Amino acid sequence: MALLSDQVREATASVRNHSTLEAQVAIILGTGLGSLAERLSDAVRVPYEAIPHFPAATVEDHAGEMVLGYLGEVPVVALSGRFHVYEGYSLQEVTFPVRVAKALGVDTLIVSNAAGGLNPQFKAGDLMLISDHINQMGDNPLIGPNDDSLGPRFPDMCEPYTESLLALVEEKALALGIKTQRGVYLACSGPCLETRAEYRFMRTIGADAVGMSTVPEVIVAVHAGLKVLGFSAITDECFPDALKPVDIDKIIATANAVEPKLTQLVEAVLRELPPMAKGSA
Ligand code: HPA
Repeated sequence: MALLSDQVREATASVRNHSTLEAQVAIILGTGLGSLAERLSDAVRVPYEAIPHFPAATVEDHAGEMVLGYLGEVPVVALSGRFHVYEGYSLQEVTFPVRVAKALGVDTLIVSNAAGGLNPQFKAGDLMLISDHINQMGDNPLIGPNDDSLGPRFPDMCEPYTESLLALVEEKALALGIKTQRGVYLACSGPCLETRAEYRFMRTIGADAVGMSTVPEVIVAVHAGLKVLGFSAITDECFPDALKPVDIDKIIATANAVEPKLTQLVEAVLRELPPMAKGSA
């Protein structure tokens, strides 16, 4: 089998045929949160099918394309449509776009997702900044031989979400009058939603929100030495003693309603990012 780093090189070379943009930031757009990609200027869109080794997106509402362009002054690569383990992909496949983004030159990953709220202080429609995570997927994208050219065997996880970016986004939220929550995101594989007993367990072990994505991508981002900023749109309330059946259309509608806050904050943060030192990626 070809080495992961060879696959990353081939995918990156193919993207380079469409755009030579030296991206600084990669943005993964979660369920119902795709429209940030529409705001890029000088955008070049590359369908995932056109990129070697990229899996094909299967979830509705996920466009499945890489968009390279500028958000404000900052060169970014937006990943519109993500891969989930419940679709049948391995975590290596799920996280492949992060590897390619790193090879395209980024030093920062911004991730977003739709998540269920476990913290009783949270309401559907809130925006949570991810301060830490719990991996309950029963899998890890770094299992297997380590490719030392991509990152260390035992990446440290004491600060997966970059504190300085968290502080910056909270400062911007305050200035813009946008209410944010801060909390721990727990990832499980899905696709079924959780039982009341599972929600009670997740809350007990310290989670504030639950979803089916993000953590594998963040693990790979940390492995690759990227700074990370994560957002969860709280789309439903997972309170075990008052649980109602989940409505996927409502989850997507709520994520759509949260999106303007996310867009404003991401743009505000990008305006303040120090320019990337040449050759630092
Ligand atoms: N679980 C519960 N509620 C959710 C999820 C989830 O994984 N994602 C979005 N809302």
